[in-house]
Amino acid sequence: MIAILEKSIVEGEVNVSGSKNAFFPAVGAGIALGAEKIVIKNTPKIKDVFVMLELLRELGCEYKIQNTEIIINTEKIKLNNVSPENFGKIRGSVVIFGALLGRFEKAKIPMPGGCKIGKRPIDQHIKAANSLGYRVEENEEYVEAYGAPKKEGKIKFDIKTVTGTENAILMSINSKVEIENVAIEPEVQELINYLKKYGVDIRLELKEDKILIDGTKREKIKEVEFELIPDRIEAGTWLILAAATEGKIKIKNVIAEHIKAVVDVLKECGAKIKILGNKIEVEGNKKYKPVDLLIVASYPAFPTDLQPQISVMLLKAEGKSRIKDNIFPERISHIRELKKMGADILVENGEIIINPSKIHGAEIEAKDLRSTAALVIAGLVAEKNQTILKNFELIERGYENFVKKLKNVNAKIEVFEDEIRKEEIIKGISNYVPYST
Ligand code: EPU
Repeated sequence: MIAILEKSIVEGEVNVSGSKNAFFPAVGAGIALGAEKIVIKNTPKIKDVFVMLELLRELGCEYKIQNTEIIINTEKIKLNNVSPENFGKIRGSVVIFGALLGRFEKAKIPMPGGCKIGKRPIDQHIKAANSLGYRVEENEEYVEAYGAPKKEGKIKFDIKTVTGTENAILMSINSKVEIENVAIEPEVQELINYLKKYGVDIRLELKEDKILIDGTKREKIKEVEFELIPDRIEAGTWLILAAATEGKIKIKNVIAEHIKAVVDVLKECGAKIKILGNKIEVEGNKKYKPVDLLIVASYPAFPTDLQPQISVMLLKAEGKSRIKDNIFPERISHIRELKKMGADILVENGEIIINPSKIHGAEIEAKDLRSTAALVIAGLVAEKNQTILKNFELIERGYENFVKKLKNVNAKIEVFEDEIRKEEIIKGISNYVPYST
């Protein structure tokens, strides 16, 4: 798919959908709890969710979709080998590992995939299973864990990992376990809430980055119902998009606390932001202050999933900004594309260096989900020519109704299925002039 974008000033209201990355642990919780029926409300209709549902079907589950509600029947779930093809398309699939261990005390999974944003090993997930007493065998294609888990144990992560922490919780659901050095992203905290709702004795010791779980006395659950929190990365994308395009929008259905780090940075730069309960009003500025050094790290710090988007906005600052992404330092595919648009941006000593730049439209190509969002912002900011953004379909992995929402706030975007049609449309309706540099 190709998106054609033109400079726009966004204005209006936008409603944030349910959280992509809270969906996977919700499925995991339902399976690990042994529920036959899992109801998940406020589910976004995005590709990664559909891939996960296909995977569940391969495992023997059935599902139906009723508006924003997904109903999964797990009565026939088996320890089937799931196909590496679907498993490798997304990262969220990895929670099936912990979920199956929680339910059957056995699991065999192919290697998970996800966006190509640097190394994404699962050694910590395996360490968690080992710490619980599982025997784990792995080769290039599969990871298999078996053997009875300890009734009491301790898992200590070497680094903070979001899905690793989720898996550790799910596989500990029948034991008494202390999990140390955990990730505390809102999606992890939601998983804790899901389990608490169904009587699991689990708590997060925030000051010590520790989770204590005692699942030894829990009761059997037949049916569970979870409601997904709003997607904080979608909300943050809208905030940055409005600030970068000098627009003014009201973002509805947000938990402001979940994007505090983003709001703080934007305010420091000079965007006007008002928090009104579960709504945020943002008004962009013509000029921004640079950020001396923005450190991207685990929650509650600035999220890596918004690093490409803020990189674009900082091109408008009146001085040099630096970003250090400590989670995915190789998440830099947007930089090459921004250079094609005339941006003075580079990577030096593991930092992204952003100098003030006026960008122009160009033919560019997205490589992963969040860089697609960032390049859309770039296309809406760029002067002179239109921007032709290839691989736009990547956006559908994680943003629900993105084009419709963009059009609702007056963003100039048109999407075409293929190259030929794009050429026809360009000849007919636009004054597109390919950029020659
Ligand atoms: N890591 C290891 N070993 C492991 C696990 C992680 O070295 O066993 C490293 C990673 O390479 C990375 C760091 O630890 O450098 C953190 O990775 P983490 O495990 O936290 O990431 P994840 O669980 O694979 C989730 C989100 C990502 C998001 C990251 C970081 C889901 C399904 N995915 O991935 O979301 O970027 O946390 O917040 O929850 C996205 O939505 O676009 C996305 C990529």
